[in-house]
Amino acid sequence: MSSPPAFRTAIVPAAGLGTRFLPTTKAVPKELLPVVDTPGIELVASEAAAAGAERLVIVTSPDKQAVTEYFRPQPELERTLEERGKKDLLDKVRRGPALIEAETAVQDRALGLGHAVGCAEPKLTDADDAVAVLLPDDLVLPRGVLGRMAEVRAKHGGSVLCAFEVPPQQTSSYGVFEVDDTDEDDVKRVRGMVEKPAPEEAPSSLAAAGRYLLDRQVFDALKRIEPGAGGELQLTDAVALLISEGHPVHTVVHRGGRHDLGNPGGFLKAAVDFALEDPEYGPDLRDWLVERMSRS
Ligand code: G1P
Repeated sequence: MSSPPAFRTAIVPAAGLGTRFLPTTKAVPKELLPVVDTPGIELVASEAAAAGAERLVIVTSPDKQAVTEYFRPQPELERTLEERGKKDLLDKVRRGPALIEAETAVQDRALGLGHAVGCAEPKLTDADDAVAVLLPDDLVLPRGVLGRMAEVRAKHGGSVLCAFEVPPQQTSSYGVFEVDDTDEDDVKRVRGMVEKPAPEEAPSSLAAAGRYLLDRQVFDALKRIEPGAGGELQLTDAVALLISEGHPVHTVVHRGGRHDLGNPGGFLKAAVDFALEDPEYGPDLRDWLVERMSRS
């Protein structure tokens, strides 16, 4: 018999104002902006579903319900496409709703990532011993790190995060780990974690990517933290509190790629990267880029 999945529920915090994408985000949530033709939220949902998640709890502000609506079927549009024999488009339209059961948890005040994750707690069931948290700004490539994180939780228990190497001058943008080696090269035991340290205060150059596999105990820790970096309730501080109380926390060091969809520069790189791999748009884009670069 195969072992039960490491988690059933994936939480996606998506309540931010998307200020770096203004003015577009006046009307369109950042999570619905298309990477080629697929919104970032679907990329994250499909990663969660591929790792075994059955449910996506999208934490949004009251005026961003469109993010969850994206996962609802659109019978009229489907009928029209069916009548017109547009099989490929029909498949695309049905893909999101078929992926996963999506629901909304409302965060009505922007009090930080830790607060956002805590807003999902009322949606959990008794079966949720652990939850995955995926930050939709982060694309971690190739997909599959959550599967490795689940293996590490099965072996060591507790909570498992994902780390990647950052240049020392960038530590102040991330949660940064203090780690010890284990007998596996890509797994470190986490001794401490600090949110957005200045380079001279950073315990390492291993930063948290936006993938977390958290034991349910994190919700209790989230109720006990005080505002931290930026005056916000930080998920990092809840993890640090758990560590200080003896809860095992490990990190999988991801050595693949990563895109930051949270700002236009990072978003464009992701879009170009995905478009170059696209059979329809890739070849033409490649030729155009080469020609465009020669003009610099
Ligand atoms: C959040 C987390 C941080 C993590 C980062 C990854 O920060 O608080 O620990 O390293 O995501 O993208 P934010 O990017 O929301 O400032």
